[in-house]
Amino acid sequence: MASEVWTIRWVDGVVEILDQRLLPHRVKYLRLRTARQVARAIRDMAIRGAPAIGVAAAMGIALTAYHSRAKSREKLLEQLRRSYDVLRSSRPTAVNLFWALDRIMRLAESLGSVEEIRSRLVEEALRIMEEDVEANMRIGENGARLIEDGDRILTHCNAGALATAGYGTALGVIRAAHAQGKKIMVYACETRPKLQGARLTTWELLRDGIPVKLITDNMAAFLMQRGEVDKVIVGADRILARTGHVINKIGTLCHAICAKYHGIPFLVAAPTSTIDFKSRLEDVVIEERDPREVLYVNGRRIAPEGIEAWNPAFDITPPELVTYIITEKGVYRPDELRGIGSGELSGE
Ligand code: MRU
Repeated sequence: MASEVWTIRWVDGVVEILDQRLLPHRVKYLRLRTARQVARAIRDMAIRGAPAIGVAAAMGIALTAYHSRAKSREKLLEQLRRSYDVLRSSRPTAVNLFWALDRIMRLAESLGSVEEIRSRLVEEALRIMEEDVEANMRIGENGARLIEDGDRILTHCNAGALATAGYGTALGVIRAAHAQGKKIMVYACETRPKLQGARLTTWELLRDGIPVKLITDNMAAFLMQRGEVDKVIVGADRILARTGHVINKIGTLCHAICAKYHGIPFLVAAPTSTIDFKSRLEDVVIEERDPREVLYVNGRRIAPEGIEAWNPAFDITPPELVTYIITEKGVYRPDELRGIGSGELSGE
């Protein structure tokens, strides 16, 4: 994404985030000073996308450390744990949130003094942000090898610079292939109900000059049947290492089933911070959001009064529908994750 727009950044004790609810019509930044404000921004989806909310959560804890007046290490740790709890409860599904929070709290608890905790936590949050951009660039490189000149690529939701600290995962692969001179085009699915595809993915690709055409979610199967899609690439909110299940934006499963039926490769691009090495399928909480997101479009009710709606934010794609998982460490089949320990993948 062109450099004058950023998803999130730290400026002297303030976290600035691009308010994605207003895109593509307005570019406006929220200036957040407390962990509670960051948690609200995550919950209300001013910032969204698994890696981006991980970075935001880390910065939320760093804000608490930075502004704390605690005189003792114990008092400061107590304040940090409160922020940790508030941020943990902001959204339940993307594992990057918990990964980043645990990483930053582990560091805080290992440090000896108030001063050390203050400075090191800000540094660590910035490191998490930088590492995410680096990981995405490598995902781009690894994934672009799978993309051929002329490919028509279908993507769902927004797994771009806006969903990360920069460059993107699925859109990182698309950016890298485009930068290599491959003539690709993208079909962006609108992604009901929050329209991340229509509002955000098209916005990003347009800014980068990558050809993109918008379709509604229910057009994808027909497009595939007509032979117009060569690859599907999506991001992920959580990938279960034990089983290879991919949890991603609601609608992903439908595309995966259709891709399998039509013999189209289904690729998932995600950093290793999205791989959950612990949870079983039954441990995963799929976020259910306010039914009004389905019942209303642009503030206007579209269904009769009295009608109920169901609004799960994510679905679960089983491993047999996934061709490859593209990470910064390499490209894996879903069943290969099982044999790889968290240490090997995360470099610990
Ligand atoms: O509800 P959202 O917009 O946070 O969901 C985002 C997605 O599902 C993305 O595909 C996923 O987080 C990967 S982003 C690199």
